[in-house]
Amino acid sequence: MHLPKNIIAGNWKMNKNYSEGIALIKEIIANNTSETEEYEIIINVPFIHLKEAVDLSKEYKHIAIGAQDCHTESSGAFTGNISAEMIQSCGAKYVIIGHSERRMYHQEDATVLNKKIKQALKNQLKVIFCIGEPLEEREADKQNAYIQKQLEETILQLNKEELKNIIIAYEPIWAIGTGKTASSMQAQNMHAFIRTLFAEKYDTSTANSLSILYGGSCNPNNAKELFSQEDINGGLIGGASLKSDDFQAIIKSF
Ligand code: PGA
Repeated sequence: MHLPKNIIAGNWKMNKNYSEGIALIKEIIANNTSETEEYEIIINVPFIHLKEAVDLSKEYKHIAIGAQDCHTESSGAFTGNISAEMIQSCGAKYVIIGHSERRMYHQEDATVLNKKIKQALKNQLKVIFCIGEPLEEREADKQNAYIQKQLEETILQLNKEELKNIIIAYEPIWAIGTGKTASSMQAQNMHAFIRTLFAEKYDTSTANSLSILYGGSCNPNNAKELFSQEDINGGLIGGASLKSDDFQAIIKSF
């Protein structure tokens, strides 16, 4: 059986100008020069940092660079947008799709997300696919049905081969950037539920090899407990990935 890979992914969002971003990349790399097979570090940077981040991290197999979005189409008259092929041509290996901020501020629904997933996979990018329920759903105890629907409309339509290039990030919306983390029990229960959905749709070995990350106010104080849960294979880190000391402390939680 193929075990899920442990992953620490940073999501810088719209932070860091060019020189600040490059300085941060260099610090993260300097802190992680020794090869490890225990986990992979993925840094999802703004487009302006993509190529240089790839070049700086090239010799480290356990460090990969990703983008935070790609367009639904291959190319054309889409002023201001970036295609999956452009991202891939910089040497990036990953792209985040389905982040709640994209769903909310850019009205990205399942139709849009499926096109983006298709573009990413067509261009050999691995997808970090985000799902997560709003507070009302959690308070009404309807989070499982909500997450199931998000997955049924998108990732659960992929075939097994495509699924090998997918990482799931469970990010309850009420925990993103709020300082309010899901308890390790809430996160574990949801991750186990998500894995069950994959076992039912595909098979146990497929489900067991899927990396499922937790995201939402993950920090050096709570990372260890979250990552020690059976079905949590790492984290997608926003705010705490912007400070190399905090990010490093989270990496060291494995
Ligand atoms: P946060 O963001 O760690 O700042 O809560 C996580 C994310 O949105 O990916």
